[in-house]
Order: sequence, then structure tokens, then C-alpha cells
Amino acid sequence: MKKLGIYIHIPFCRQKCNYCDFYSIKWNAESEKKYVESVINEIKSYKYEAGGKYVADTIYFGGGTPTIINPGNLKVILDNLNELIEIDKNAEISMEANPNTLTADKLKAYKEIGINRLSIGVQSLNDEILKKIGRIHNSKEAVEAIGRAGESGFENINADVMFNIPGQTVKDIEDTVSEIIETGVKHISFYVLKLEKGTPMFTMEKNDKIAMPDEETEREMYYAGRNVMEKNNIFQYEISNFAEKSHECRHNLKYWNQEEYIGLGPSAHSFLNNIRYSNPGDLNLYCKNADAGKFDRIIHEELDEEDLITEYIMLRLRLTEGLNTGDFEEKFKLNFNERYKSQINYLVNNKLLAYDKDFIRLTKKGMDISNYVIEEFM
Ligand SMILES: C[S@@+](CC[C@H](N)C(=O)[O-])C[C@H]1O[C@@H](n2cnc3c(N)ncnc32)[C@H](O)[C@@H]1O
Ligand code: SF4
Repeated sequence: MKKLGIYIHIPFCRQKCNYCDFYSIKWNAESEKKYVESVINEIKSYKYEAGGKYVADTIYFGGGTPTIINPGNLKVILDNLNELIEIDKNAEISMEANPNTLTADKLKAYKEIGINRLSIGVQSLNDEILKKIGRIHNSKEAVEAIGRAGESGFENINADVMFNIPGQTVKDIEDTVSEIIETGVKHISFYVLKLEKGTPMFTMEKNDKIAMPDEETEREMYYAGRNVMEKNNIFQYEISNFAEKSHECRHNLKYWNQEEYIGLGPSAHSFLNNIRYSNPGDLNLYCKNADAGKFDRIIHEELDEEDLITEYIMLRLRLTEGLNTGDFEEKFKLNFNERYKSQINYLVNNKLLAYDKDFIRLTKKGMDISNYVIEEFM
């Protein structure tokens, strides 16, 4: 049977952070109930497309804040999934968690229902920065949450860290990353803060209330964080992702390997049968559709062979491992070296691309201008 990833979007937060434009609304018990019923309906709607054809080897509860809802409801969702699509017994089952919603009781419940990887939104261990970006936790609570997760038997823990925040310094980044590593996490997602239209921080910047770090400082922060991680055996495997060996996130690797996944819940994205589509980012509409048994899909792209090839190159070059030319040939029945001879020569000569046995990968210089390099293959 074919392998499949499942993403479940939990669209609730206690409070919206000043930078975030992921779809989420304020939690209430009534909405949670309606949401869970709708997700179950959506799972059932995949009966003919996916039922009996796939085995789910990665599952990812993302958000929003999955730790807000009753853990019993996560189990209901998993049980319904398992009825339609077998869940592999070694499946990676991840969940995003906000530090101060991660109680010992909840951690115990997550373990019991089979969640085996946590991704904790730390962002920074500087309390002033945390306040500025509108987080509802402080640095002490974040470190304690990671500790509690470890004590509850979670071995596979990620911490999200953001850099390029107004007021943040290179030293801040070094301190945050070092302190996080001391907690024993095996994975760090190191995101550059992007100002998203419609968020409070976007407006503040437009009105000169805050100033973004300049490009040079942004790069310095990135190199500083990367250096601290690499010195501590947490290696980069993707532009924004670092892990101890064999702790890479298997679910997210599916995105960069162009493998199939289904996204459930409002705003969730899917890639199935070479089509990229998403659900509307509106809980009311999502539930209304679920009641009517029709799930409107917003089609983003139907990829033909040429689209698949260029997308595959773009995705694989995000990974430090790079693109394996043998895998490329097996997948597309084309010789990579012949097809892209001039691009490879040009990029290797300019030290943007490295060629090593059967792999081509971005150099560190190439990674800094990855969009430019990838553009050469389009
Ligand atoms: C969708 S959030 C869900 C995690 C969880 N709700 C939390 O915040 O703790 C996943 C991660 O995306 C990152 N993120 C969200 N908005 C971002 C932005 N505008 N720029 C960079 N990273 C962002 C944050 O690091 C966050 O932890
Ligand atoms: S960063 Fe996380 S907690 Fe903050 S609004 Fe976004 S999803 Fe919610």
C-alpha cells in the first residue's frame, strides 16, 4: 500500500500572537465540538479516494494550538482515521504545543493516545521579546514545559525559535539557542520572522512603531544560531530545520520529498494525485460544508510532468542532503546531468552548487540566495 502523511489543523488559540497569520480563532467548547464532528465527516469523505489504498506513516496535529482541545477529541480523530486509513504501527505522530498549555495531565494523555513527537513554540527565551510579539508564556514557563515533556517520556521534542525580531540581538539568539539545547531537545525549527500582511506587527512596522533588523543583522543572527546548533551536534537538514541525527521530522520531510499528504480541517493543505489543494480558512464555512457533506476544495495547482520536475528540484534543494540524481532518474525517467548540464556548470563554477557523487546540493553561499539558484532550473 502507498504511504500517506496526514495533517490535522486545529484552528483555536487562546490569544493571537502579533506576527501570526495562520488560521485560528478564539477557543470555546461549542466550536470545539462542532469542529471535531466536521473533521470526522471530512475523514469519511475520503472513503473512495484513500480508503484501503494508503497507510498513514506520519500524522501531524498543527495549528493554531492543538494543546487547547480535549486530548480525548484527538483520540476520537485518530480512531476515525484508523478506521479508514490504517495507521502504521511505527507512525510518527507529532503535535504542536504552546508552552503554557502543556500540563502534566495532558502530557500523560498524549502519550497514551500514541503521540510520540512534540513541537513546542518557544520562539525566544528573552521575556521582553516574548512580550513584544504577544506570546502568553515567559522563558521560565517554556523551559519548564520542555522539562515536563521529557519527564513524561517524550524523547522526540522540537522547539520553534524565531529570529529577525525587532529589538533582538545576535547575542539574544546565541543565548536562546544555547539554553534550548541544554534542555535536551533533539530538533530546532529556526524561523526567520516574516511580516505577514494583516498582522499587528505588519501595521506597526508600516507606521514606524517598530523597525525590522537590517539584512546584514538578519544574516548574522541566522549564522550565529546555526553555529551554536552545529557545535552541539544539531545539524542543519533543511533551510530552517536542524536536528540530531535520525531526529529529522519525518512528516515535514514528506513536503520536501514531494510525497502525498492529506490536510484535514479549515485552511489545511493537501497534495494528492498530483493536485495541490486546500480547505477554506473559515471554521463556520468548513462546518457548514461538513454538515452538507460537501468539502469545497480550493485547487491551487494541478501539476503536469514538467511542473512536477521543477517543483521536485526546488523542494529537494531546500534540503542540505540535496537532490539524488539516481532518485531523479527513477522518478522521472530523465537524466538530470544531461538535462541541466549548463545550469550545473554555471552554478558549480560560481560556488552556489556542490556536486558530490550522486548528489547535487546548495553550498552555504547558495543557501543564502536559494531563490536565485532555484530560479535557474525553472
Ligand atoms: C503555526 S505555529 C503553531 C505552534 C503553536 N501554536 C505555537 O505558536 O506555539 C508554528 C510556528 O510557526 C512560526 N511562525 C508563525 N508565524 C510566523 C511568522 N510570521 N514568521 C516566522 N515564523 C512564524 C512560529 O515559530 C510558530 O511556533
Ligand atoms: S503562533 Fe501559535 S499561538 Fe500564536 S497565534 Fe499563531 S498559531 Fe496561535
